[in-house]
Amino acid sequence: MELVTGSRERPSASPDRKADMQNAKLILDGKEYELPIVVGTENEKAFDCQKLRDTTGYVTMDPGYGNTGACQSSITFIDGEKGILRYRGYPIDDLAERASFLEVAHLLMYGELPAGGQRLEWQNYVTRHTLLHEDMKKFFEGFPRHAHPMAILAAMFSSLSTFYPENNETDLEQNMVRLLAKAPTIAAFSYKKSVGQPFIYPRNDLDYCSNFLHMMFAVPAQTYTVSPAVHDALNLLLILHADHEQNCSTSTVRMVGSSRANLFASMAAGVSALWGPLHGGANQEVIEMLEGIRDAGGNVANAVAAAKDKASGFRLMGFGHRVYKNFDPRAKILKKAADRVLVELGVRDPLLDIAKALEEAALNDPYFVERKLYPNVDFYSGIIYRAIGIPTDMFTVMFALGRLPGWIAHWREQRHDPKARINRPRQIYTGPTLRRFV
Ligand code: ACO
Repeated sequence: MELVTGSRERPSASPDRKADMQNAKLILDGKEYELPIVVGTENEKAFDCQKLRDTTGYVTMDPGYGNTGACQSSITFIDGEKGILRYRGYPIDDLAERASFLEVAHLLMYGELPAGGQRLEWQNYVTRHTLLHEDMKKFFEGFPRHAHPMAILAAMFSSLSTFYPENNETDLEQNMVRLLAKAPTIAAFSYKKSVGQPFIYPRNDLDYCSNFLHMMFAVPAQTYTVSPAVHDALNLLLILHADHEQNCSTSTVRMVGSSRANLFASMAAGVSALWGPLHGGANQEVIEMLEGIRDAGGNVANAVAAAKDKASGFRLMGFGHRVYKNFDPRAKILKKAADRVLVELGVRDPLLDIAKALEEAALNDPYFVERKLYPNVDFYSGIIYRAIGIPTDMFTVMFALGRLPGWIAHWREQRHDPKARINRPRQIYTGPTLRRFV
């Protein structure tokens, strides 16, 4: 088999330049087949093999989908080699420095930052939907006190579909905003349940981050004031997590959504995918790993040695990425932010020193250098979450709150794509051939 691509490099702003590119030629069993070339606005190239099985009898084999384009998307661009991450064209650094999380949510979901009066209108629209139906409060009573908040989040997301059916386009658009608005309330209620405190209701006069912090940390009959440093740190974390193109949880959301399952069911699946320690669950694992190193005397060399020993089954959590092979721009921003936030809050956390020592040891070790393993977004985020008072088992819930606009944006994009089909990969069967039941 031989594949010859006849593409010419001609960057342009046209998202799909199939028409003016030459096709790729595939030579298989001596016969030549043409595969259309697809080029994105950032000159990423693919050949379209949708018809390959029909024309040749072959399928492509790509376990883990590391080299498979599952869709065309105009939401997020990543260049893993150069460490570039952009939402709808805006560099992540600019958004992290200047935008609010709700502005970024608007950008991801609808394609543009809210301008002028739209900003307040958008914030008010989301704020109006933050309350949970009183009947939903009863669900929390049924969970055991030590239930993992990710399990509660997935269950509550799914339950929302029983309250807000999707009968038409208007319902659907409104449900996206309802979900964005109610997710922090669900997350905060699950925390209050775990510490045995009464639920604190959302306040319409507060912005998204302040409202979440209020629901988490206020207690009845006491004044709670949101610290600007905590507010800004939370805003930054949420923005950095807001989208990351076709990662495991977003692909899961698109996979479930492709069957035309409702929004809430698709998002509950995204929460479940995110929970895994190789994905969003890594932020909890990082802190547990750093605590383990601290409790064992603080020797990072042992952790590095264990991570290199495949038989140990141990990996450096918060290290490595399927796409970033140089550095993760989010980790770079977070490392600086961790230093700043701890100083601003007057927190001294020995885990930050251990994390920095571990990063340095790993980045100077040939095992990590050769495999291009760098700290990812989860490596420093937990240190900041700890400093602002978020308990460790809530870290992945925080990730989910941040990622929600991305999931919604992808779900929405797919729903409006007239060419979208149900996602249904193929396989190569390796089990027993026909045998008779005797
Ligand atoms: N520690 C030690 N070795 C590692 C690590 C690590 N964290 N990550 C990858 N490797 C090694 C693998 O053992 C493999 O080595 P080999 O070539 O000798 O077999 C090589 O590096 C390539 O790793 P893969 O597992 O093939 O890479 P993949 O792209 O499939 O996985 C992943 C990426 C899951 C992120 C992986 O690096 C990992 O497990 N990291 C730790 C968990 C983590 O931090 N996850 C969060 C990712 S970011 C996010 O989802 C938000």
